[in-house]
Amino acid sequence: MTIPFNRPNLTGDELAFIAEAVRNLQLSANGEFTRRCQRWLEERLEADGHGGWPAPRVLLTHSCTAALEMAALSIGVGPGDEVIMPSFTFVSTANAVVLRGATPVFVDIRPDTLNLDETLIEAAITPRTRAISVVHYAGAGANMEAIGAIARRHGLRVIEDSAQGFLASYRGRPLGTFGALGALSFHETKNVISGEGGALIVNDPGLAERAEILWEKGTDRSRFRRGEVDRYTWQDVGSSFAPSEILAAFLWAQLQHGDEITRRRLAQWTVYHEAFRGLESDGLARRPIIPADAGHNGHLYYLLLPTAAARAEALDALARRGIQAIFHYVPLHNSPAGRRYGRTAGRLSVTEDAAARLVRLPLHAGLSGDEQARVIQAVYAICAQPAVCSR
Ligand SMILES: Cc1ncc(COP(=O)(O)O)c(C=O)c1O
Repeated sequence: MTIPFNRPNLTGDELAFIAEAVRNLQLSANGEFTRRCQRWLEERLEADGHGGWPAPRVLLTHSCTAALEMAALSIGVGPGDEVIMPSFTFVSTANAVVLRGATPVFVDIRPDTLNLDETLIEAAITPRTRAISVVHYAGAGANMEAIGAIARRHGLRVIEDSAQGFLASYRGRPLGTFGALGALSFHETKNVISGEGGALIVNDPGLAERAEILWEKGTDRSRFRRGEVDRYTWQDVGSSFAPSEILAAFLWAQLQHGDEITRRRLAQWTVYHEAFRGLESDGLARRPIIPADAGHNGHLYYLLLPTAAARAEALDALARRGIQAIFHYVPLHNSPAGRRYGRTAGRLSVTEDAAARLVRLPLHAGLSGDEQARVIQAVYAICAQPAVCSR
């Protein structure tokens, strides 16, 4: 039996809420389930009113990609502007700004967390820099204190690509609430899912009204629905960013179980982490490093093998044993579109090195203890072979 890398986790309530959405006969966007999910997210992100940071406005989207595109539109980046970001990320972080005619400027990552290296950001800033896009890799927060201070010093906006960061925190504050804007993903590979899905977190109150218009295809339909205007009209650019009520109903079923799903993933993550202590101390792999500041969410478990060749061999050997382990981001700066649309600031040697050696192991709420034990045993058996993981 193959152990899949990911198996979408169902809570059991999805179909009942979808049936309710169907009975409500309001299937397009911005109905009852959308509002419930948005309110739930707003309350959680504000730590139920006791956070001590500004209350965010949340808009559900059909993907994190859509939320990132809304973020780029909201801050008004355009041709000639530059946005600093890691190259070790998904294409959507960069596409969002490229679609606006702006240039992604790729900066290297830290060797420990694989998040943007804050010590390299200032050297990448030019008079054209408008924003910094931060990715919280594996749901372990980037150094938001240092990045926030740099942004303030240079008058830059911060966008948090928190695709992997749902229900994770940095110094006790939820990821996604630090930047002017944050983006979440509920794609089926994430902890809490709706197939495709996402949300834009608007932390700067000055951007909230426009974000709602961008979200409603450039109209003030949200104000019309609230009875604030007697008709809605075309106000600004915008697009179809909001999900249907069917998707929001599915997400509503998942959100209720968000804490339980996170706890389960964290427990599985810890089993891997403890199990691979010996592998690391024998110099056969490096385990993830989670800084004390980061309250991570167990989104993914990875190992850094000694060489790219060891990684290729290990992926093949795991596949032969029916274990679906996979690599992760292929650095954007070396990709055809990255070379065409972006530029690098300094050398990206940590990015290239980590991307070539990283292996992600199966981790999902449905992974059984037996399956996890099989993965651990296989990794030890494969990595102990001198040809694979020798130093
Ligand atoms: C860092 C990052 N940003 C954005 C995305 C895109 O998310 P979505 O599939 O919800 O559009 C991903 C997807 O995995 C991601 O890893």
